[in-house]
Amino acid sequence: MRRTFIAGNWKMNLDRQAAVALVRELVEQVGPQSRVDLAVCPPAVYLEAVAGLVAGSPIGLGAQNMYHETSGAFTGELSPAMLVDVGCRYVILGHSERRQYFGESNEDVFRKAQAALAAGLTPIVCLGERLDEREAGRTREVVEGQFRGSLAGLSADEIQNVVIAYEPVWAIGTGKVATPEQAEEVHAALRSMLENRYNAGIAERIVIQYGGSVKPDNAAQLLGQPNIDGALVGGASLTASGFLGIANAAP
Ligand code: PGA
Repeated sequence: MRRTFIAGNWKMNLDRQAAVALVRELVEQVGPQSRVDLAVCPPAVYLEAVAGLVAGSPIGLGAQNMYHETSGAFTGELSPAMLVDVGCRYVILGHSERRQYFGESNEDVFRKAQAALAAGLTPIVCLGERLDEREAGRTREVVEGQFRGSLAGLSADEIQNVVIAYEPVWAIGTGKVATPEQAEEVHAALRSMLENRYNAGIAERIVIQYGGSVKPDNAAQLLGQPNIDGALVGGASLTASGFLGIANAAP
């Protein structure tokens, strides 16, 4: 049985004081145990401060990006081991904003996923179509291309420690959420891609999150779909009521 996994992607938001205040509130409201898996992904410079606050709580810590090399002359980059060192368990990879604004390719995402896994991190690998691609009826083809390029090169052992996030680009930060049926259709397609590339047992175990304008009032319907196992939340994760409202809406 897959456990529901709700992760908050804070993106380039909040300052130190606001980040600390938000995490304190989350830790207090979640308490010692959580029915669903939870993680927050703050900006890299606040990872360590947040790590200290979530330690001993059920809230995991994730980074928003990393580089695939282990060390060296890569100005401005962070290695997987550095993220582990400050307490990260997760790392978001291939977010559409990274693909769109920073030119990340499927090949980059694949290399990063391999490096993250080698360091013991759980990568949350994002994929999803743009509006023009959906309108052209190319959603399945685009998602399948991203699956092949970013994920399918991983071994059967590796893929089992990956979380996939389906995030239609047109739904991110726009308030235009995919309908539960639209999302479920792609999630089911992803699960069959996993089954074809690996096997049915592996496909059944992998958590596939939905992301794109998830809010407390639409979360229950999305999370109620058979193949939607969680959410990667942007805007609504910036308040405790938004983030935990979504977590509490999980069936
Ligand atoms: P959003 O962002 O919830 O603000 O749409 C989701 C994401 O980019 O992960």
